[in-house]
Amino acid sequence: MQVGILKVIQYPNKVLESKTEKVKSFDGELHNLLDDMYETMQEYNGVGLAAPQIGILKQIAIIDIGDETGKHELINPEIITKRGKQTDMEGCLSIPNLYGDVIRPLSMRIKARNRYGKAFILDANGFLARAIEHEIDHLHGILFPTKAIKLYSEDELERLN
Ligand code: CO
Repeated sequence: MQVGILKVIQYPNKVLESKTEKVKSFDGELHNLLDDMYETMQEYNGVGLAAPQIGILKQIAIIDIGDETGKHELINPEIITKRGKQTDMEGCLSIPNLYGDVIRPLSMRIKARNRYGKAFILDANGFLARAIEHEIDHLHGILFPTKAIKLYSEDELERLN
């Protein structure tokens, strides 16, 4: 394994369904952790990763859906408003071989802090809003299958395609 690539905890594991604590120190340790989380997310071709997935019960999540909005580091994120609804299929690096249709907001405004502790507001639409809510759910111990209106195994998905 490369340096910087962390082990992604797989379901079932209590850490994935635990509450997280707010980050108070925006220091080098946090920056190293965020950098390692990016490497890990890229290694496993994810679009988001939350700290509980690597065994850390803190309010830290990263997202990069590969669009022009780039990388998002969300520390202590909070949803301010949600608008509309969208239904689409999603998965999770901690729950391989399972996918589900999940209803998410069509758009959201959140507030969070960056790696230096500076507060910011982010307006997200479409798939970015979906990815952000999925990651914020992780910080509250909520996994997508508990919200899914329909679940699919990898085999079922292959038969659909
Ligand atoms: Co996930």
